[in-house]
Amino acid sequence: MKRLSKKLCLYFILAFLVVCLINVLTSKYNKENDLKSYDEMFNTFYNYSKDSGLNGPKVSMDDPNLIRKLRDHFLVKPAEESKGRRIRYNLSDRSLIDPSMGQAMEIAKIIDYTKGGFFIECGALDGETRSNTLYFERYYGWTGLLIEADPLNFIKMLKKGRRAYLSPSCLSVNPYPEIVSFLQRSNMGRIANDEVVEDEVISNDIEKKTSPVVNVQCFPLYTYLLALNVTVIDYFSLDVEGSELNVIKTIPFDKIDIKTLSVEFFHVKEGDDGVRAYLEEKGYIVTAKVTRQDRLANDYIFAKPSVLTKNVSFYIT
Ligand SMILES: *[C@@H]1O[C@H](CO)[C@@H](O)[C@H](O)[C@H]1NC(C)=O
Ligand SMILES: *[C@@H]1O[C@H](CO)[C@@H](O)[C@H](O)[C@H]1NC(C)=O
Ligand SMILES: *[C@@H]1O[C@H](CO)[C@@H](O)[C@H](O)[C@H]1NC(C)=O
Ligand SMILES: *[C@@H]1O[C@H](CO)[C@@H](O)[C@H](O)[C@H]1NC(C)=O
Repeated sequence: MKRLSKKLCLYFILAFLVVCLINVLTSKYNKENDLKSYDEMFNTFYNYSKDSGLNGPKVSMDDPNLIRKLRDHFLVKPAEESKGRRIRYNLSDRSLIDPSMGQAMEIAKIIDYTKGGFFIECGALDGETRSNTLYFERYYGWTGLLIEADPLNFIKMLKKGRRAYLSPSCLSVNPYPEIVSFLQRSNMGRIANDEVVEDEVISNDIEKKTSPVVNVQCFPLYTYLLALNVTVIDYFSLDVEGSELNVIKTIPFDKIDIKTLSVEFFHVKEGDDGVRAYLEEKGYIVTAKVTRQDRLANDYIFAKPSVLTKNVSFYIT
């Protein structure tokens, strides 16, 4: 009896050690794997020196070399294309049908979204959290382009299996390509030197100083479209923490057809009226304003009157 329990005890200890070893090995493996891919991605896409070529006011947004640079080095193909077959989404909440804060439903109200379409979303965050475009892609076969400047968010997005092009870059606030210092701070990251209205929550210096900075390549919106050979965008979701109007001002509206937009206005220094006035002058109407108490949404929904499927009552402030 005594010998048996001794033996049993030994087995237990042995089994325990084996489990520990497996744990240590797999955690090390996972860690190395993650770090390796993060490093790899970081070295491939980020922290350029500011004077690297093909940047600045002299480079035009339709420069063929610039288009090639973007197409060859700053676009990750849609998940299904790169694997040669449709891969499953890897979402943290599969049951959430529309993770947006109401923007997607406002777009769905005004256009015929059921037959597919093309979107651009910037910043795309991790491609799932509060995504304005996932709903259209997942259920209605849309595809598009997801632009995210923060490498920590981008690497998460790579794992979601989105059926869209992904770009680890930023939309230029000037009508030419440039490298900017980007403040990394989760869902509130932004271009460091663009003048914006900060949230009170992060406007104190201590928080600002602790935001890591990374150098990110920006391209004008038009360059992405030329690289993708796309001229019609059904929905453009723009939420870049204050640089929205400057990004919009780079768009040659005579060359591309953007049917609807949602634009966050909360941090824009010209305010919501500034954004609205500019786009109204370009022929858009506001069909809705999406706001939330917790400030996770502060967007105007814009549409070209010609694309509206219904006689929507125009939004009046
Ligand atoms: C799915 O997502 C989780 C969490 O982001 C990640 O750890 C995992 O590696 C992903 N799986 C695949 C196959 O990409
Ligand atoms: C990226 O560049 C910035 C500015 O030069 C620097 O402060 C930061 O440490 C760099 N990040 C990495 C991960 O190398
Ligand atoms: C771009 O699209 C046009 C019209 O759809 C097509 O004729 C052209 O071949 C395409 N070019 C490339 C490089 O894919
Ligand atoms: C759209 O609605 C407005 C206001 O209800 C109405 O005056 C107008 O005649 C309608 N237009 C069409 C084309 O139905």
